[in-house]
Amino acid sequence: MRTVYLNGDYLPETEAKVSIFDRGFVMADGVYEVTSVLGGKLIDFGGHLTRLQRSLDALEMKNPLSAEEWLEVHRQLVARNAVEEGMVYLQVTRGNPGDRDFAYPADDVAPTVVLFTQAKSGLADNPVAKTGIKIITVPDIRWGRRDIKTVQLLYPSMGKMMAKKAGVDDAWLVEDGFVTEGTSNNAYIVKGNKIITRALSSDILHGITRAAVLRFAREAQMEVEERNFTVDEAKAADEAFITSASAFVMPVVEIDGAALGNGKPGPLTARLREIYLDEMRKAAV
Ligand code: PDD
Repeated sequence: MRTVYLNGDYLPETEAKVSIFDRGFVMADGVYEVTSVLGGKLIDFGGHLTRLQRSLDALEMKNPLSAEEWLEVHRQLVARNAVEEGMVYLQVTRGNPGDRDFAYPADDVAPTVVLFTQAKSGLADNPVAKTGIKIITVPDIRWGRRDIKTVQLLYPSMGKMMAKKAGVDDAWLVEDGFVTEGTSNNAYIVKGNKIITRALSSDILHGITRAAVLRFAREAQMEVEERNFTVDEAKAADEAFITSASAFVMPVVEIDGAALGNGKPGPLTARLREIYLDEMRKAAV
């Protein structure tokens, strides 16, 4: 049984209980982060903490722990659960005001802090990275602050279910004819030596993996163009891929039934995945 963290305590997962009035439960009033673990160490931990602060600020929530405390809890959970490869999930909600009310409660209501691990062996050596994933496109009908990493994930769940029903792996979201991002990842296409991905705004989550991958791409003399792209442009691309803390760099080989190039993962994507994993393992904490 896993050991999880709840408001200062390390508990067996069956003993960690949260109130029915918790605003995370009744209002999706909370934020989260997912940090991957490779070789028992945290990948890009600083990036995830920085984004956590940004999400909390956007919702006028105080950060309940210091950077040192967050690191300590992450490390404790990785150690106590003997996670070699996998993820640490963290969530902060606005806590339990004792009743349901739309207005934010007073500052003395303590936030609810939950962390748990998910062991996933073969995360880095994922065989899917060799064959690639297939995606469909679906309308992006989410709210306008997708840059805040909230726990309000119903539409991404629906998107994953639409993909599943269509017999593919995931979905890209489309707004006004342009791809915003994947259901739980950022989306990219490749033309020659050029990587094209939507620019940062409140339309998409500011991926921590995205920031690192674009930095490594530029360092490797690949061209990066941060701009909107259409589904048609994506279908005609040489390569495509997604990035996230759990998928790293994952090739996309089919979009709405149309194979990209020869239907196999492309060389630029493979190289980027390799660089990303190498560099991030070196910097892991
Ligand atoms: N999802 N876009 C969306 C909508 C996401 O949910 C995520 C992450 C990303 C990629 O962000 P990052 O590179 O920082 O992981 C982009 C996480 C992994 C999840 O919900 O499980």
